[in-house]
This record gives sequence, structure tokens and C-alpha cells, in this order.
Amino acid sequence: MYVVCVGGGYVGSVTGVSFAALGNKTTVIDISREKVDLINGGKSPIYEPGLEYIIQQTIGKSLFATTEYHCIAEAGVIFIGVETPTAPDGSADLKCVKNAATSIGENINKNKFTLIVNKSTVPTGTGEVVSSIISEVSGLIPEKDFSVVSNPEFLREGSALQDVFFPDRIVVGANNQIAKEIMRELYKPLVTRENYHKLCERYFNFEWETPEKLPIYFETDVRTAELIKYASNGFLAVKISFINEVAKLCEKLGTNVLDVAKGMGLDSRIGDKFLEVSSGWQGSCFPKDTSELYLLSKNYECELSIVKAAIDANFAMHRYVVEKIIRFLGCLNGKTIGILGLTFKPNTDDARKTQAEFIIPHLLSLGASIKAFDPQGMETFKKFNPTLDIKYCEKAEDVAQRADCVLLLTHWQEFMNLNWQEMVNTLKTPYVLDTRNFLNREKLQELGFCYQGLGVKSK
Ligand SMILES: NC(=O)c1ccc[n+]([C@@H]2O[C@H](COP(=O)([O-])OP(=O)(O)OC[C@H]3O[C@@H](n4cnc5c(N)ncnc54)[C@H](O)[C@@H]3O)[C@@H](O)[C@H]2O)c1
Repeated sequence: MYVVCVGGGYVGSVTGVSFAALGNKTTVIDISREKVDLINGGKSPIYEPGLEYIIQQTIGKSLFATTEYHCIAEAGVIFIGVETPTAPDGSADLKCVKNAATSIGENINKNKFTLIVNKSTVPTGTGEVVSSIISEVSGLIPEKDFSVVSNPEFLREGSALQDVFFPDRIVVGANNQIAKEIMRELYKPLVTRENYHKLCERYFNFEWETPEKLPIYFETDVRTAELIKYASNGFLAVKISFINEVAKLCEKLGTNVLDVAKGMGLDSRIGDKFLEVSSGWQGSCFPKDTSELYLLSKNYECELSIVKAAIDANFAMHRYVVEKIIRFLGCLNGKTIGILGLTFKPNTDDARKTQAEFIIPHLLSLGASIKAFDPQGMETFKKFNPTLDIKYCEKAEDVAQRADCVLLLTHWQEFMNLNWQEMVNTLKTPYVLDTRNFLNREKLQELGFCYQGLGVKSK
């Protein structure tokens, strides 16, 4: 099958590369010349473990990248994976999706059936919008000459390839029988895993887990598939906000949230995932998707008050981290806080709408100075927050120099093995606040640190 992916960012590049590795001729179209040149040069346009290796194995063979839309005419399946950021009113901004639909309509082949697959996270009803744009621009008849299906993406940055090649489920919303058959054929290798080990050995340069269970291929209608994505992210946000609030309660009661989460997670109805305490959820998906879901529910006079509560609890959690520092250090005016981690999670360079983007301005407004380090995200964080007064450090240990607190926001594995001895010596106050309960508390305490986590006893 000839696959085209419109959008070569965190979702589009991984989708394109994966379908190329599965043996489909695949072209990634992006309006960013820089991203296209990177892919054609055998480089990954994003930091995602393992991605660059597969690009190098496939580029010029089954994988191609371009800024031009002409290849659309040849394509059998066209994925849309462009961004859907939050508009000023809190809803999903569909400008890029509509532009992509227009370009597809201008270039679509009028002599054969084409399938358009929406992978971008889009509000219920967007499939119909995309369909009518393509029809208007091309003059073609929806569901006869072409069809738009919904295939929401559930990958997690940092483990995107594992998630794409070994998903729990593949959700396909289609209202057309031919569309359903094309999608089943396209996803067959992922669903059956025939000859899969050989494929993984050839294309993966990372350790991968082969889950015992095959993915569930779940078909529904387009509008329902669109909502499944928002409902999933809304639910996960509620789960994290729930355990974060429990962590605060644990601090009052003198109980341990790690054990509470473990005890809860042992119940198969609850599960242990997404019960990890943090300074709050953030990133390029949860904030915008919860915002859109809440607005959508309000517009239909069916308010999802639980999603609103999760959003409010999340901002309260960001503030709680700052309050904790104040409780320890007192007035922050003139104090220096050294921050470890600017991305919303480890193993990505994605620094859009991260916890640090909320916590740092709050600390600055209280008169604190900020030093920061992130293994991959400093450039993107700087790009999205150009006016924030931050001293970016060359190495992680430098955030501790003459600082009053080391604040860990992202649990990059390498932070575990920093030269903490050097850091305790250079800190003004040997205080570390570990918002992910990740570091080796005993070791740090032995070195003389005053260690605090979230929802665990400080001892
Ligand atoms: N990032 C994630 O982890 C993730 C996970 C699941 C779903 N999603 C959803 O997938 C969508 C894409 O997210 P992303 O993180 O990949 O965004 P992104 O910003 O990283 O990538 C989007 C890309 O699309 C390109 N683009 C925009 N308009 C275009 C056009 N008209 N033609 C060609 N290229 C165009 C941009 O240049 C950019 O490179 C969003 O709706 C997002 O909510 C993202």
C-alpha cells in the first residue's frame, strides 16, 4: 500500500516511519523544510529513542519525505497527523487539519478510491468537516470516491515505537465498508504479528518487550472513535490528579502514597498505571485535550464536572510544589532554585506546556532565581518560553551551584546517577525536592541532603 502521512512531528514521523518499516512505501509530507531535510538526511526530526535508526534503515527505500503535496495523487491511504493546539477559547484549533484537508482535496486522485485517516486528536464531528472540505475542493463524492476514517493515536512519547508496534488496542472509526477493509489490511501485520520478530530485529536498536496479548482491533463509527481519544486522555488526567490529591492527604496523615498507590493498583479493576505522583500532568496532549473535552461537554449542556475538577486539582498541584519549597526555605526572594527536568516526561525533547512552564514563572514572581538543566529539552523549552529569566546549565550538577534547593520535575534516568556528592557540597542549603519520588532517598540522606518527596514522610 502507498501510505502518505501529512505532518512529520511527534505522531506523523513515528507513524510514517512505522508504516515504512512494515513494508509500505510511505511518504511524510511536512510544511517544515527543516523536518523534511532532517528525515531525508537520515536524522530524526524529534528526539524519540530508536526512531533515527529506523529512518536510516528505510530512507530512500520505503520511506520518503517532502514538502510537496503531489504524491497525494498516488496514495491509497493518507494519514493526517498535524497539530491541534488549544485555541484562545480553550477548544481544539483545527486550522492545520483544515489546511491539510484543503491540500489533500487539491491533489487527490479523481480516478480511484482514496482513504483519508485522521490520526490527529480532533473533536467529534471533525471527520465530517474534513470530508466536506475535500469534497468541496475536489468535487469528489464522499463515501463513493473517498472516505474519511478516524484512527486516534495513543502512543506515548519516549516509548512511541514500542507503543506503535505493540499497541494495546487499535481503534478505527469508519462508516464505509471499503474503508474498513483497507484499514484491516493496513493494520494486519500489527494485529497478527506474523514474522514480527525478524522485523523488530531488523529495525529496532533498542530493547523491546513483546506483550503476550495481541492488540485488540476495535471498530466503531467515526464520531465515537473521535470521542474515545478525548475520553481516554480525560480519564487518565483524572487518575493522575486523584493520586496527586491523595499524596497531599498522605502528607497530612503521615501515610505513604507509594504504598497507597501500590495497594490500590493491585486491584485489577484499578491497575497500577498512572498512579505515580508528580507535580501535575502537563505536556502537549493532556492540557489541550482536557480543555477541549470539558468545553465540548459544556457546549452540549452535559458538563463533565469531574474533568474540570481534575484540571483545577492539577494547577493546585503545581502551586503545592512551590508552597512546599516556601515551607522549607521561607521567603523565596533572593533564593536560587536549581531545576532538573524541563520536559513533561523523560526520553523526549518535547517541552510544550510542561510543569516547569507553570512552576518556574511562579518561583520567579516570588523573587527566586532559576537555574535549569534537561538532557534533551532545553532548546525546545527555550523556544516556547523565550522571555523566562533562566540560567541554563551545561550539566545537571551545575544547577546546585550556590542554590538553595534542587527541584526535580522530570525523572530522567540519568538524574539518579548524578554526582550528588559534588552537588551537596556546592548547594547553599542541601535541600532536594523530588516531585517524582524517584531518587535514592537513603543515599541522598547519607550524603547529608534534606530529602523531600511528595506524599511520603520526610523522616
Ligand atoms: N505528541 C503526542 O504524544 C501525541 C500522542 C497522541 C496524539 N497526538 C495528537 O497528534 C496530533 C499531532 O501531534 P504532534 O505532537 O505530532 O504535533 P507536532 O506539532 O509535533 O507535529 C505536527 C506537524 O505537522 C506539520 N504540519 C502542520 N500543518 C501542516 C500541513 N498543512 N501540511 C503538512 N504538514 C503540516 C507541522 O509542521 C508539524 O511538523 C495532535 O492532534 C496531537 O494531539 C499527539
